[in-house]
Amino acid sequence: MVSLKFLPTFSLLPLAHALLRFPCAQLVTQRLDPLVTPGQVSPHLHQIVGGVRETRFNITIDPNTDIAKTSTCTSCRFKEDKSNYWTAVMYFKHPNGSFIRVPQIANGGTGNSNGGMTVYYIQPSSSVRFTSFRKGFRMIVGDPMVRSDSHVPANSVQSYALTFRCYDGVPGSDGSWAPGVGPFESVGFPQKKCPGGIRTNIFFPTCWDGTTLDPPDHHSHVKYIQGTVNPRAGIFYQSGTCPSTHPVRIPLIFLETIWDTKPFLNDWPTDGSQPLVYSMGDPTGFGQHGDYVFGWEDDSLDRAMARCNDRGDFPADCKELTVQTDQAINSCTQPVVVNEVTEGRYLPTLPGCNPIQNGPGTATMVQNCNAVSTTGTGGAPTTVSVPTSTATVPASTQTTVVVPTPTAPQGPAIPKYGQCGGIGWAGSTVCIAGSTCQKLSDWYSQCV
Ligand SMILES: *[C@@H]1O[C@H](CO)[C@@H](O)[C@H](O)[C@H]1NC(C)=O
Ligand SMILES: *[C@@H]1O[C@H](CO)[C@@H](O)[C@H](O)[C@H]1NC(C)=O
Repeated sequence: MVSLKFLPTFSLLPLAHALLRFPCAQLVTQRLDPLVTPGQVSPHLHQIVGGVRETRFNITIDPNTDIAKTSTCTSCRFKEDKSNYWTAVMYFKHPNGSFIRVPQIANGGTGNSNGGMTVYYIQPSSSVRFTSFRKGFRMIVGDPMVRSDSHVPANSVQSYALTFRCYDGVPGSDGSWAPGVGPFESVGFPQKKCPGGIRTNIFFPTCWDGTTLDPPDHHSHVKYIQGTVNPRAGIFYQSGTCPSTHPVRIPLIFLETIWDTKPFLNDWPTDGSQPLVYSMGDPTGFGQHGDYVFGWEDDSLDRAMARCNDRGDFPADCKELTVQTDQAINSCTQPVVVNEVTEGRYLPTLPGCNPIQNGPGTATMVQNCNAVSTTGTGGAPTTVSVPTSTATVPASTQTTVVVPTPTAPQGPAIPKYGQCGGIGWAGSTVCIAGSTCQKLSDWYSQCV
């Protein structure tokens, strides 16, 4: 793809204080979902990257299980990152009705990873030190059952969070636009042929309630930062304040996946229809979603967020972390345990029970089709329990423009769950009445 000097230069915008940008090669592409259906066959196909543990991909909810320690390898560039990240998988629907998986390729400037995705951890320039994630933290952004964007307030931060970049085939032509904004970007699937391929962009929320590691819906503990997005800069450079219910700033995680649609350009429909489909039977793209399970070793992410800026393309600049070779990340894979063909040839249907559902209403789960429902290692039968649409409509629609000054840590009393200490902390250490400042790590003390 477009080689990066990828960060557009916005002279008026501050550069990120901390930035890590690195590839995670494909671990496995299977119907597995460690968050929603742990240890079981999941309803639809995901591409999964990151740390390898059990073959059935059952991540227990017990935060005392340190997945960084139980992992045997990681497909990510930094050896310390045993987290997992996953997204849905894109298919091309041939005019004759058959489906084939769209291959993934390495992103510009990231080396030669085998497919997978590019992961960013960003701490925008600010006086506020962000809290790193705690062991056991997970979150999901997006909803696989959604087929329209009518639930997302226009111009909200959330409305820029899940997008598609359509490459016109001219190297670098999109280069002055930050991810998620500009004329190359769309929220649903691009409604045109993209001669250079497509990049999907997934921004996770950056405001945490400060206490919940993983609620049953996997998303209500996090919210997007408030404010209006600069349509030149996008969430990448967004500053603003967190809602009072979710006061704790966490690093911005951003995922990019490059989908190589070039092999299908000659078979593209000539009637103007859009032939791309996500693995959950979504031909709109509005059901795009990303999942995250925190799994960095010890305080490695804290150290990196405090001291590293790899300028996008230079992971070795981060002396706090251990860089792995392409060969190492590409050879860390997970055995296939669901006995079904998902890629490499045309298929009559999408894997699982995933007929195309066009919307705009919320899609419904289809059960009892003839899809494989057990894993090859004797896993439990699939009991499908994907949450029906719990569309993340913010409690209050933001209509007033919030002046994007950071939540300054000064002031007499820190609200509950706010930061009150840690290496590099210059703010108040006094907690609001009824809570006390407790040390959670060298990097972070919190009012609890
Ligand atoms: C997941 O792993 C835990 C701990 O090993 C085990 O107790 C649990 O039964 C497993 N769950 C599934 C669905 O395999
Ligand atoms: C559709 O076309 C592809 C590519 O030529 C072919 O592999 C596949 O078998 C066809 N499917 C049907 C149902 O004819």
